[in-house]
Amino acid sequence: MRKTRIQRLDGKKVDVVLHLGNVFVCSHGLCCGKAERGYGPDLRELHQMEWHRRKLGKTVYLTQSGCLGLCALGNTVLLIFQGHPLWFHSFNTVEQVSALYDYIEAMVIAKQCLPVPDTLRDSVLEKGLEKGALRDMTSLVAPLEEPSGSKICACE
Ligand code: FES
Repeated sequence: MRKTRIQRLDGKKVDVVLHLGNVFVCSHGLCCGKAERGYGPDLRELHQMEWHRRKLGKTVYLTQSGCLGLCALGNTVLLIFQGHPLWFHSFNTVEQVSALYDYIEAMVIAKQCLPVPDTLRDSVLEKGLEKGALRDMTSLVAPLEEPSGSKICACE
């Protein structure tokens, strides 16, 4: 966990915790988790449990979000680690959720991005996309930068 003092636009200086990563789990949309509508099961509690069990709160923030905009691919998850975004879809099993937090925990210990493990490879969004489509999407997510302006992500 790293704290940085930042000045808000109202002039007040505040300490902000900079996490190594963030996990956004689509939890409050109209599709993901709505098995009765033909989407994957509701795994919100499992995400929360795995995150708590591994004590990731000080390093990787978990956000149970609203719709992430990829409804037809639900359940969707966006992991941003050291500014590097990785989208997952069809995240419908206990094994996938557990593998995701195994992966995150391994990156936290290594303090760097690691290759996606085989257990998660099939649910990575870039599979099946036209070349360049993912780049267009990921450009919407601004990479984290050091205060000096140099990129802290070593994974691209
Ligand atoms: S409801 Fe999950 S991506 Fe839209």
